Order: sequence, then structure tokens, then C-alpha cells
Amino acid sequence: MQYVFFLGSHPALSVAEVLNVLRRDGISYRIFFAHERYMVIDVAGVLPIDFLRRLGGSERIARVVAAQPQAWLAAEIAAAFIPEGIKFIFGLNVWPAYVKALGSKPNAEHKPVESLARKLKAAWREQGYSARYTLPKRANSTLNAAQVIFNRLHEPPNLDLHLLLAGDAYVLAQTLSVQDIQAYEQRDTARPARDARVGMLPPKLAQIMLNLVPTFHHWPPTVYDPFCGTGTVLQEGLLFGWQMIGSDASPKMVRATKHNLAWLARHPLFAERLHAAGADVFQHDARLPLFAAIGAVGDGEAPLHDNVDAIVTEPYLGTPLTRSLSAAKATSAFAGIQQIYLSFFTQARKFLAPGGWVVFLLPAIKVSGQSGYTLFPASFLDRVVSLGYSQKQPAPQGFEDNIYPSTERGTLLYSRPKALVAREITLWEKR
Ligand SMILES: C[S@@+](CC[C@H](N)C(=O)[O-])C[C@H]1O[C@@H](n2cnc3c(N)ncnc32)[C@H](O)[C@@H]1O
Repeated sequence: MQYVFFLGSHPALSVAEVLNVLRRDGISYRIFFAHERYMVIDVAGVLPIDFLRRLGGSERIARVVAAQPQAWLAAEIAAAFIPEGIKFIFGLNVWPAYVKALGSKPNAEHKPVESLARKLKAAWREQGYSARYTLPKRANSTLNAAQVIFNRLHEPPNLDLHLLLAGDAYVLAQTLSVQDIQAYEQRDTARPARDARVGMLPPKLAQIMLNLVPTFHHWPPTVYDPFCGTGTVLQEGLLFGWQMIGSDASPKMVRATKHNLAWLARHPLFAERLHAAGADVFQHDARLPLFAAIGAVGDGEAPLHDNVDAIVTEPYLGTPLTRSLSAAKATSAFAGIQQIYLSFFTQARKFLAPGGWVVFLLPAIKVSGQSGYTLFPASFLDRVVSLGYSQKQPAPQGFEDNIYPSTERGTLLYSRPKALVAREITLWEKR
């Protein structure tokens, strides 16, 4: 089956995630076409129904209905479907390159979409169907996820249609699933324990980080977040059905995580998806050996020694900034937190399974007068290597034209618009 993955706000992260999950799930695939907003992939067989729910970085997944060497006529589109009901609503997304191929000016994108929708409705009427359509907001040529969900376009008999260009092919595709905006919103902003000062990881980014772990020694895997804060990584791992362990140096944050996970376990949207075993959460300073805390883990029956498949964590990223720093101040900000990280990496080797992984966020700072972000010093990466880890590149490799940009060291950056601190995703394997 051929699928289209519509990528989220950080396409490089989205692509790295999709490809890693396909590999990890043992699904053979071939990339048919890569675009900065979508990726067309041939997959052996059919993807599991919950595939999208596990991806933080893809907004929609569609199946390719057919491709042809020229633009689709309304009658051809109507003939490509057997609607599952007499009355239905369809959405029409004509992706910008396809709009241009139709010969329309980019700033008049809405018009050809509207005219095609009208003709499509008429074509279906001729076949005895009563179809209504939903169009993108003016000046856009594609619907957003909220419009798809609101109109239930992804549920039969309705249809959410895509016309897009993949190289020379004019592709017609139909949405199979769409990211559940409400569920993310709940897991992001409705949690009872929040701490703006500590900074909370967006749940989608937590999912992406979990999905960048290349392999697991056990299944379901055991994943540990030693700087768990309000528990976002644990929350997302539990929803995958994984065994999660979390700790934090601050008793307040340990309480916050426990509070949030208890809320999740009661929440009508999530309760049934939670792993029966729940998470082990305890207070611990990540710079110190873990044996003092082992008694708190799994009733003392599951010592962490060599047991943890992966550590996935957003550590302490330094004092929150209110303005960009001078180069000298950025250097000393990095130096101030580096020792915490090195002590953590020293300890982590002891409880990671052989070949275990670490997905570790590093802060990248806006320095006055410089464009882009200044990355954590390369000398730190060398020191982690000398502690017994190999650095891997999480960024998607082998794409032309730098369509999925990564840093010069093959790591991935996640940043919100105008943020003073970005998050750099690094990936390490225990040697
Ligand atoms: C950026 S926050 C993590 C936020 C978390 N990802 C979330 O979604 O809420 C970093 C956390 O590291 C904790 N921390 C700082 N130093 C620590 C240490 N030495 N050992 C363990 N935790 C520490 C802080 O208490 C804070 O909760």
C-alpha cells in the first residue's frame, strides 16, 4: 500500500520519526517521494490502525488511491471512489505545487480548489449521490486538521481528498487518520500539575523522542526519564504501553509527575490505553549512583542494573532566559550545566541494557548578533564519547536539497518561533 504522511511543524523530526518507527516495527518500506510538507511511502502490507496515534510529528496519513501523468479531472476523481453512503461531505486539499501545475497564480490558490470542488459535486450528483463539500480557508489550498475533525471528513461515508504532486505523478489520496487535536490539547494544557518555570515538553515532541529510539532489548521496553519534571515523557510512553520509570531531584516535581499520571489514568480519553503496570516514579539526583533509589522501583524486584532499554529525557536546560545572551555568557551558561550532564552519562551506563540508547535534549541558545542557535560545545560531545557512548545521527539521511535540515552534526533542532532556547535532540548508544 502507498501512504502519504503529512508532516508537522518540524518536518525533519517528523520524517526521522516515521522512518524509525517503520524500521523498529519491522515494516519494509520504500520512499517514493519526499517533499518538505509530505512524504509518499510504499509499505509492504497495510499499516496498523493505531500507527498515526503513535506519531507525534505527522498530522495526517492518507492512502494513495491512484496516480496518473496528468492533472485529475472531476469526473475521474468521482469515478475513483465508490462512496459508502448516498449523502456525504468531502474535503478537498490541493497541495500548492499541484495548484501551480494547474497554471494558477499562487495568490489565487483558493479559486481552482473551489471550482474543482463544484465540478466534483456535480459529477457525483450525476451518479445519484448527494455530496456537499468543505473548502480550505480563503487563500489556502488545504484544510487544517481542525476542519477535518470538525466535519468528520476522515470518517466514512465522508471523504478528505488530496491532490498532490510526487515528482511527475499527479497523486489522488484519501485521508485515513488525522491527529487527535483534542487529545493532545488535554495532555498538554489540561494536566493538573504544570510548572511554567520548569518548562514542559510538548507531548508531540515527547512522542517523537520516544520514537527515535532505534531498537529495544526487551518488549515492551523499559524506558527511564531521570529528569522527569511534570512527567510528559512518562505519560507518552505509558500511552504506548511501555514500562516507564521516572525520577527527579525535586520532591515537588516527583509529586507533580505522580499527580499528572494519576489524572491520566482516570481520564476518559486515555484510561483504557494505559499500561497496567503504570510507572515507577521516585526522587533521585541524576548525578548520583542509582542503587540508593532502587528499593523504590517495582517493589524492589526490578533492579535497574542493565535493565533499562532506553533513557529518553529533557534534562535541566539552565536558567530560563529573558533575552538573548552574549557569546561569552552563552559559553558560561553551557559550562554551568555540563557537569550535571556528564555525571548523569557516567551513571547511566551502569543501568542501561547492553546496546541501550539515550535520547538526550541539549539547550541551543540565541546569541545576540548571530542568526540561528548556538549549539552546546562539541567538546562536551567528545567527553560523552569518552565515557563509553557512540554518538548517532537522529536526522534523516540521504535526502536531496537539504529538504529536511539538520544541524551540522546530524542532530535535530526543535524550536518555537522566537524562542531564546531551542532543543537539540541528540542520540547515543551505549558501547
Ligand atoms: C526541563 S525540566 C524537565 C521537564 C519535563 N520534560 C516535563 O515535561 O515536565 C528538568 C527537570 O530536571 C530536574 N533536575 C534538575 N537537576 C536535576 C538533577 N541533578 N537530577 C535530577 N533532576 C534534576 C528539575 O527539577 C526539572 O524538573
